[in-house]
Amino acid sequence: MSLLARTADAIAGLLSPWLFLGVSASCLPRTVLNLLRERRFAVLLSPRALRDAWFGEFWGRIAGPNIRLNAAERVVPLLEGRTAAGRVLLEDEVSACPPVAGVVLEVGAGSGLWVDVFPSFVAEGFGAVSSPEAGTDVRRRGAQRSSSGSKGITRVYGVEPNRDQHPSLRKAIARAGLEDVYRIVPVGIEELDDSSKWDGRVEKGSVDCIVSILCLCSIPDPEKNIRELYRYLKKGGRWYVYEHVRCEYSWYMRLYQRLLNVFWPHFIGGCLLCRQTEKTLREAGPWEKIDVGQPPIEPWYQAVPHILGVFTK
Ligand SMILES: C[S@@+](CC[C@H](N)C(=O)[O-])C[C@H]1O[C@@H](n2cnc3c(N)ncnc32)[C@H](O)[C@@H]1O
Repeated sequence: MSLLARTADAIAGLLSPWLFLGVSASCLPRTVLNLLRERRFAVLLSPRALRDAWFGEFWGRIAGPNIRLNAAERVVPLLEGRTAAGRVLLEDEVSACPPVAGVVLEVGAGSGLWVDVFPSFVAEGFGAVSSPEAGTDVRRRGAQRSSSGSKGITRVYGVEPNRDQHPSLRKAIARAGLEDVYRIVPVGIEELDDSSKWDGRVEKGSVDCIVSILCLCSIPDPEKNIRELYRYLKKGGRWYVYEHVRCEYSWYMRLYQRLLNVFWPHFIGGCLLCRQTEKTLREAGPWEKIDVGQPPIEPWYQAVPHILGVFTK
């Protein structure tokens, strides 16, 4: 690639987060109009509730599906256990990590953008078998998993406190045929074991796998709550992570990210850019194995860098 093309790419990459904020801002008038039409005046008067409704509109309708398209080539292999040091394994590379299985906690399920990936991992006799939306690759790998005899998913708890996301999440569950497997938990992770807050309870030490996709940036008090989530995992349980994190690679990108972060949470539903999520996860408790890294496709001008990988307890 020529120097000119590389410079143009870098400029576009550096500006793209501002465009993202602009697109979010453009969803606010529509959100307000919808709320007026639905006569949900109380939401308009509560900054927190309005923020949730705005984020539901922006993420569910615009940002989420685009990110889903772009990130699927990393997230699907992640859930299949086919990543190492932040990169996706090649076809002929042997995976050292099993796919998601057993009792799964999907943290911050949002509008259910990843629900269609789960059917191919569901254990035999536990409901859905395949989803029309999932790619053939996912179905093929699901079939490989079944024939290799590994245990499949028996239950998914989709933890999502933003009720504005629930109608879309419910539709995604129905489309995937997962009504008997996937249960929406309508509270934040901090209230998971509080049966006075929802009509269910998840016991500490009962979860086989945690899946967190772009959500640890939004949870309150991450040090405390990630440590709490760690306690829900069984010994040997796995935490599959795809999260955006603080820039660590150059002082000017760290500075640039900090500048972005002044505006970001106000437009993106409280999401914070500068969290050291890998460090927080590492310090959540003792891990038997950690295999995580930044995806190699991310360039030096990535203002919203990610970590991808699996922590095994
Ligand atoms: C950026 S969205 C990502 C949603 C989804 N994982 C996806 O990739 O489309 C972050 C989600 O985390 C949720 N969230 C915020 N606070 C939370 C909490 N305390 N517990 C669980 N989820 C939370 C938000 O409501 C939001 O839906």
